[in-house]
Amino acid sequence: MKVDGKPMRTIWLEPDGWSVGIIDQTALPHRLITARLTTLEDVAHAIRAMMIRGAPLIGATTAYGVCLALRADPSDESLERACTVLAATRPTAINLKWALDEMVAAVRNRPRTERTAAAYRRAAEICEDDVAINTALGHAGLPLIEAIAAHKKPGERVNVLTHCNAGWLATVDVGTATAPIYTAHDKGVAVHVFADETRPRNQGASLTAWELGQHGVPHTLIADNTGGHLMQHGQVDLVIVGTDRVTANGDVCNKIGTYLKALAAHDNNVPFYVALPSPTIDFALADGVSEIPIEERGAEEVATVTGRTADGRIETVRIAPNGSPVANYGFDVTPARLVTGLITERGVIAASRAALAGAFPERAAAAE
Ligand code: MRU
Repeated sequence: MKVDGKPMRTIWLEPDGWSVGIIDQTALPHRLITARLTTLEDVAHAIRAMMIRGAPLIGATTAYGVCLALRADPSDESLERACTVLAATRPTAINLKWALDEMVAAVRNRPRTERTAAAYRRAAEICEDDVAINTALGHAGLPLIEAIAAHKKPGERVNVLTHCNAGWLATVDVGTATAPIYTAHDKGVAVHVFADETRPRNQGASLTAWELGQHGVPHTLIADNTGGHLMQHGQVDLVIVGTDRVTANGDVCNKIGTYLKALAAHDNNVPFYVALPSPTIDFALADGVSEIPIEERGAEEVATVTGRTADGRIETVRIAPNGSPVANYGFDVTPARLVTGLITERGVIAASRAALAGAFPERAAAAE
């Protein structure tokens, strides 16, 4: 997508052909800063510190983490260590495990002398595939927005509510939940987005609002608790969210607060869609509510807020009493019964075991 009118991706190979460039998302929306990753440890830190985040981008960055580890040492021990280190960075996004499996399969049976080049080739493919998949999500989801636009009065916009950031910043490019939105907007369909701020880290405020603004998509930032009210008063036509993992039965794990939006949507007959690239499907788990381990993050994310002061300094301030215990669950699971449909690169399907296995039989079979 474009930043200040120029095309940009979230991750790239630097001109040296081996080190990895990323946008440091912790500085957005106040500063556009890039970082250069040269070691496995750099990559692990970037994922842990959420310099990069979002399930598909975590997968792509993980792939380059394996490349950097093998470049330093192409042995079996080095590959194993890279997998252990990277797997421990963040637990929820299944794209991380998927990318590790893909990278191991690409290099394992090769002589050491060929491993690094094979790893870089596979990492580049993972990035290109991500862009192609997200572009396909955009085309698959477009008719959902167009159908609503066709029934609205002339001049009225289609209002889409989204949660967290499942935009191009969460992927290599294009985004997942935002893909149908960008596709519709670029086609001239009048679309407007309500972006949940998404406490505690505010990815909606700092990232979704920023990238929609950069692309010129009309949007309104709302506090997390606002969606139910808007839906009750007919101001939301559909909800589209991303996901960090979808289990075989269609349960959807996504940023904390998604489940509440699904409940509000259900109560108000607002369609609730999940945009889902196939590497985010976890056919190994039968049920999301009971089986997905949920990441618990540090108390400071809830007890503090970071922002820019009037004179341009970035400051973190405490908003809770010292000593108050804090719980910080990063994700929740929306049961499949609350999901109107899954927007996949192979079309819009039901959130069900049969529909997922029918659309992605090779992935389902591989998990058996
Ligand atoms: O904790 P994050 O920022 O990595 O959270 C992941 C997300 O961005 C969201 O849960 C998103 O909706 C799914 S990733 C396309």
